[in-house]
Amino acid sequence: MRHLLDTRTLSRDAAIRILDVAEDMAATQSRDVKKLPTLRGKTVVNLFFEDSTRTRISFEAAAKRLSADVINFSAKGSSVSKGESLQDTAQTLQAMAADAVVVRHGASGAPRTLATSGWIDAGVVNAGDGTHEHPTQALLDAFTMRRRRHGDAGRGRDLDGYRVAIVGDVLHSRVARSNVWLLDALGADITLVAPPTLVPQDVSRWPARIIYDLDEAVDASPDAIMMLRIQSERMTGSFFPNEREYARQWGLDPVRFARLSGDTIVMHPGPMNRGLEICAEAADSPRATILEQVANGVSVRMAVLYLLLAGELSGPDTKENR
Ligand code: CP
Repeated sequence: MRHLLDTRTLSRDAAIRILDVAEDMAATQSRDVKKLPTLRGKTVVNLFFEDSTRTRISFEAAAKRLSADVINFSAKGSSVSKGESLQDTAQTLQAMAADAVVVRHGASGAPRTLATSGWIDAGVVNAGDGTHEHPTQALLDAFTMRRRRHGDAGRGRDLDGYRVAIVGDVLHSRVARSNVWLLDALGADITLVAPPTLVPQDVSRWPARIIYDLDEAVDASPDAIMMLRIQSERMTGSFFPNEREYARQWGLDPVRFARLSGDTIVMHPGPMNRGLEICAEAADSPRATILEQVANGVSVRMAVLYLLLAGELSGPDTKENR
């Protein structure tokens, strides 16, 4: 595998390798080594057809800290708005000798198309495609969980038995999908909590239990509770339940937050809808890992770029190649 397109096909060993290299990257950052020469002479293109704050900026920071040249491409203000196709955009990047393309696209499967079309030689990293996957988000989430569980003694370890509740709009969430596949590979115990109207049809085939009652999940004292953003932009009509009903039944409000076990960490991939899926008390509490997740994202993305451009994620490490 020259690309990182999903976590569904990522083996436990490949995932742990990425998390361990991310630990090494984090260690260099904490020693105030701001720049490593590792990717000098390489070009990383951030190709974003959908809006992003965290993912785009942290891929840019990651590439720059590895001394790569970075080209930022946003569909807004580009020739995409004049009707240029993904193929022509990709071939333009090919002409600019991109070594890695980090792509976010509204269409599920667009990164795979880019990786398999032959339009481009570069390694492709999926930075979120439609409702499909967001693999580096799941990796930084797992990295955060492993650190919270093992401190900096987590190298080589998985998340065996770690209990994670993923709450909210599972139907539209690429973050939920990537987390479910990755956390399952790492041995975690996953509970999905969602309104029945926001559950994917094929959820019975996912390696997770599904419940519909957030209070039940809160009272089970998970090790981590991950609140998902309501993805209004992916809903074609009005969604049921409406916002007030959603916040009442599936929001982490102050009452539920106060009932959560003191050991439970509160996660959110961002951006948050404060007052809808998560209250300010939870989001701003010391038990929230939301900004820690953002900081860890840089180390994880440094690891992914390093491993992809060094070719170390290829071969039998992936489930696809077994
Ligand atoms: N979590 C996440 O993907 O955030 P952005 O949309 O800001 O990149």
